[in-house]
Amino acid sequence: MQKTHSGTSSAPSSAKELLIEAKALSHAFDYTLFENIDIAIRPGESIAILGISGSGKSTLLHILSTLLKPDSGHVLYNGADMYTLPDKKLLEIRRRDIGIIFQSHYLFKGFSAQENLEISSRISDKKIDSELIKKLKIEDTMHKNVSLLSGGQQQRVSIARVLVKKPKLIFADEPTGNLDRETAYEVIDVMLDYITETKGGLFIVTHDEKIAARCTTVYRLKEKRLIPVIL
Ligand SMILES: Nc1ncnc2c1ncn2[C@@H]1O[C@H](COP(=O)(O)OP(=O)(O)O)[C@@H](O)[C@H]1O
Ligand SMILES: [Mg+2]
Repeated sequence: MQKTHSGTSSAPSSAKELLIEAKALSHAFDYTLFENIDIAIRPGESIAILGISGSGKSTLLHILSTLLKPDSGHVLYNGADMYTLPDKKLLEIRRRDIGIIFQSHYLFKGFSAQENLEISSRISDKKIDSELIKKLKIEDTMHKNVSLLSGGQQQRVSIARVLVKKPKLIFADEPTGNLDRETAYEVIDVMLDYITETKGGLFIVTHDEKIAARCTTVYRLKEKRLIPVIL
């Protein structure tokens, strides 16, 4: 088999190797959202989460992505329980290893797309990959003020901004909700290619079963549990 990745380690990643592992997660706001949920993301794995509005999908995404401490349960990352780490360490993980994409884009308004990517590039000390710009079809928008771009273009730029920092894990909360179908598939495929190439992990909340079907693993959050789905 041809080796396609650079680097000195030639050991294949074992199936047991996990990028992140959550055990016995439970969380409630006004009502119990989920109880005793286990979930892990393996290298190269993309997990789609389906479920009706209010079932707790975003809450689960927040818990796995350093943003919210669960009522009970553990999130293990690099061998440590994330939420027992000092705030500074948790912030470091969020900055360095985790990319979060929301439905509405949080770009720096008043700046060009290029400048938005440069901010991300500087913070993470990673170069902007011109191939990524091409794949996301934003070459022609790079010099434009992001406020002047269409919703779809802004979402592509915000995905580029997250990928520029080369995260190990991408968490995307209905990232294509504002995009037309064709654009949505293109954008999802960029994320999936990135995950395959980097042996990273993707956790994506979506309403679209066709998008979910492109992922390696699909669950439905229903009746407080994660139920495996075959699409
Ligand atoms: N920070 C919060 N404070 C209080 N209630 C919340 C908070 N976040 C979410 N909820 C509630 O928890 C429930 C599930 O929300 P959410 O995780 O966003 O579900 P989903 O993403 O599946 O639509 C909703 O009833 C929502 O109002
Ligand atoms: Mg949600």
